Amino acid sequence: MTSNKFYITTPLYYVNDLPHIGHSYTNIAVDTLARYKKLSGYDVFLLTGTDEHGQKVERAALDNNENPQELADRVVVKFKDLWKCLNINYNYFIRTTEKKHIQAVQGLFLKLFQKGDIYLGKYEGWYCTPCETYLTEKQLIDSKNCPSCGRTTEWLAEESYFFKMSKYEDRLLKHIEDNPTFIQPETKKNEIINIIKSGLKDLSITRTSFEWGVRVPLNKDSHHVIYVWFDALLNYITGIGYFSDEENFKKYWPTDVHIIGKDILKFHAIIWPTILMAADIELPKKIFAHGWWTVDGKKMSKSLGNVVDPYQVINKVGVDVYRYFLLREVPFGLDGNFSYQSLINRLNSDLANDLGNLFSRTLTMVEKYFQGLVPKPCKEDDKELRVLASEVIKSIDINMNNLNFSQALDNIWSLIQYCNKFIDTEAPWKLAKDPKAKDRLATVIYNLLEGLRFISILINPFMPETSKKMYKQLGIEVNAELQNLKSIKHWGGIMPNAKISKMENLFPRI
Ligand code: ME8
Repeated sequence: MTSNKFYITTPLYYVNDLPHIGHSYTNIAVDTLARYKKLSGYDVFLLTGTDEHGQKVERAALDNNENPQELADRVVVKFKDLWKCLNINYNYFIRTTEKKHIQAVQGLFLKLFQKGDIYLGKYEGWYCTPCETYLTEKQLIDSKNCPSCGRTTEWLAEESYFFKMSKYEDRLLKHIEDNPTFIQPETKKNEIINIIKSGLKDLSITRTSFEWGVRVPLNKDSHHVIYVWFDALLNYITGIGYFSDEENFKKYWPTDVHIIGKDILKFHAIIWPTILMAADIELPKKIFAHGWWTVDGKKMSKSLGNVVDPYQVINKVGVDVYRYFLLREVPFGLDGNFSYQSLINRLNSDLANDLGNLFSRTLTMVEKYFQGLVPKPCKEDDKELRVLASEVIKSIDINMNNLNFSQALDNIWSLIQYCNKFIDTEAPWKLAKDPKAKDRLATVIYNLLEGLRFISILINPFMPETSKKMYKQLGIEVNAELQNLKSIKHWGGIMPNAKISKMENLFPRI
């Protein structure tokens, strides 16, 4: 295991639906953190993909008159296209129908069976197909509906293999207590602790009532298919080579952070770690459950017709504004409400007014007073600005490591706002009229350009395209600088006499 590796994952999305802003939120957050870690010098592995088995997908295919594999093949393209459009830079896209994943799921099933942690039994209970989960009588709403999605459950009775989850109850509790940041945020962690304390039952992990899934690797029982969650959760190890590329697996495992939505925390914080314990595999370092997006205060649903299509938003405001808005508007971990009005407010005030104006005002002054060439600063002036810049870098690092994206953006914006004020108080247009203030003018403009260089690197993980546009206009070679965040620790990276090339506005107002 290399010490500077960073392995990060997204959930695997079901292919019975098209991706919407909720899915894109998770992937944008994961991509942003991965980019930040890369900039900080880490060897990053980002895994995403699709969850293609199970009754839900089988039924969706049936409704559509196609077979489940055809459905998956068709929908997977939609996810991949969206990730490309949103600049999600993943290292591998795993599909649970791929051979190497299936073989590893079967291999692990067999391993736990031979160990006695998987055994044959009988399952009866209320089953919610959309949520792919069994429920107890007590959990049902109005004696028949699922407490999570509200839909009607059905009674299923079947022979089933069980995973001895109960055996790992104490060990899991102890792990959570010994590792305070294992489950985040804190409020969600407490919910999980309460569930575990109320007692873990063994988990039914095979089904015989439908066909679409990984077959149990035991001849007499190959009509059993493996529970879709047992299958899908394993992607986090199979996607980096468990059973197929042990070297890569050793290099990246354990996961530094699994980022998921709060809806699926129970599966990740209870089932997943107990499977890993049974398999003698180290646990992930952190599981972070982010909040839920509603639209105009309502849950997104097909029946309400309020599902937000990411392309619609991107076509209006562009990819970077969309990425920025989702991560700035709501602290990661809390729920948020999507509305075009708040999106446009953010675009006009934070992006066009604060950042866009600062950039174009500064470049205009370089053109006007210095013929478009970076002036040479005369003294090490403006200490307050330099100190602020270096403090901002430190705060961002703390906030990014805590997945506090909105706060990290606040940190960057404190620098942007300072620079805007700096222009107002220094009033370069007055300095330009005073022949004795030539040196001071050069220093003020130089320091503004240097501040913008810092800003352009710091926003890179959030808004990669904008960052590059800024780089280009500041006359800095993109690849050289972006490789490492360390380069912004020293004031003075912009070279005097470099050519500034002012182009279009970064963010046209709406
Ligand atoms: O649960 N707000 O897949 P899924 C925020 N296949 N995030 C949202 C959201 C919303 N309104 N809607 C969806 C599954 N998400 C399983 C996962 S993992 C081994 C298997 C995001 O397609 C969020 O990340 O239902 C949530 O956890 C995920 O999509 C659920 O995606």
